[in-house]
Amino acid sequence: MSAIIPVDDFDCVVFGATGDLTLRKLVPALYNRFRDTQFSDQCRIIGAARSELTDASYRDRASKALHAHVPAADLKPDTLEAFLALVHYARTDGGQADGFGALTELLQTAPDRIRVFYLATSPHLYGTICENLAANGLITPQSRVVLEKPIGHDLESARQINDDVGKVFEERQIFRIDHFLGKETVQNLLALRFANVIFERIWNAENIDHVQITVAETVGVEGRGDYYDHAGALRDMVQNHLLQLVCLLAMEPPLDLQETALRDEKLKVLRALRPIAAHEVAQVTVRGQYVGGAIAGKAVDSYIADLGEASSTETFVALKLELRSWRWANVPFYLRTGKRLPQKVSEIVIQFRDIPFSVFPRDAADMRPNRLVIRLQPEEGIQLQLMTKDPGPGGLRLRPADLDIHFEKAFSVRYPDAYERLLMDTVRGYATLFMRRDEVEAAWAWVEPILQAWAAGTEKPRPYASGSWGPTAAIALIERDGRTWHEELG
Ligand code: BG6
Repeated sequence: MSAIIPVDDFDCVVFGATGDLTLRKLVPALYNRFRDTQFSDQCRIIGAARSELTDASYRDRASKALHAHVPAADLKPDTLEAFLALVHYARTDGGQADGFGALTELLQTAPDRIRVFYLATSPHLYGTICENLAANGLITPQSRVVLEKPIGHDLESARQINDDVGKVFEERQIFRIDHFLGKETVQNLLALRFANVIFERIWNAENIDHVQITVAETVGVEGRGDYYDHAGALRDMVQNHLLQLVCLLAMEPPLDLQETALRDEKLKVLRALRPIAAHEVAQVTVRGQYVGGAIAGKAVDSYIADLGEASSTETFVALKLELRSWRWANVPFYLRTGKRLPQKVSEIVIQFRDIPFSVFPRDAADMRPNRLVIRLQPEEGIQLQLMTKDPGPGGLRLRPADLDIHFEKAFSVRYPDAYERLLMDTVRGYATLFMRRDEVEAAWAWVEPILQAWAAGTEKPRPYASGSWGPTAAIALIERDGRTWHEELG
């Protein structure tokens, strides 16, 4: 396990303190970092929301959230008690300049300390909250703001939010979070590509036939209908998480891993995405919406039933994208993501090209080109499919076999949640794993014509049964090109 490097004392103010993200992800992440002694008992975690709560009643909520989301074995009573003592509540109306009294009072007691303002609210409030933080004199040189995705719902709204936040925070103080970048195996992509000699030299169109990225979830819309129905899978997952994966896979080696070099390279990838013209959208994208079905033997409802009203929002997207670059010319990237699919699994498949010439007799093998599978979750690991000799005397026959690394088993460690890493990076002011303004806007610029073509068309998302791999059109999308989705999931 890497050494734990303690961070300086900080106050972390979470707007949207009673929301799902805060209680399910942020509070457990902070608890785990505290348990590992990464920060001291002088730090404060300040919940800010409109509800009438006290320190005691908010601690009670935090405690319940920890019991629900942290394994019991990790909840030692004295650690839990010490952590909850750091939790405070300041009733705050982020939308009103005069709604910051309680928060101001609390923060004033430690004016020089690092302040993290974490905005886990609807993005339309980001600008106003920041303006009100400034109006109340709460933004110090040691302050940073964390913006949860999505930053807006299209290019224009993203620009507006970036402008508004940029009026009171400098770019170096703005941390636009994409939690996929905090996942261990996503960072492992950097290690795989740039710390090994064997991959980078073949990481190009000459050797790679195509790339597949699948991010599948079994959950439905859960209690997030209000947000999700206005977003849909393209905005919720593709514009950020999946395109960030494309960036890390496709970028040129950066000069170093500092924030400027790495993000410059990612930006070049986003700018190299071939724009999809309106007339092509129906050919290269598929959107779907789940209907009832069963997952792991359990019956589940349709999206419409989960939502409680009619909707044409997509809960599944598959698409084919291309990059305009020497390295990736004519190498398609096939992306798919959806809710209510058969398994929760995120993986990247690098499909290499066939060998140029076979010395083996035709009946010796069902010759399969090499394939590298990078499993992001669950069971993080890497699998390289190779052709090997089928053991035994007699002729030389071949069969595929896997070189398989299963990280958790190999290193016997708990894989920290993405938010743990990213929250500590924020305190440190380390922005490499956060999105820069120009990246967010470039991603929206690429996605927007797809959204527009969908909105202009009369076609609705295609229905798919919960527990299936999405609409059959998603299979046709890749099979039209003579390829198939990787099936050895699970
Ligand atoms: C979030 C999306 O950003 O990522 C959710 O808003 C999605 O809809 C989630 O469920 C998936 O994250 P993870 O870490 O569970 O793969």
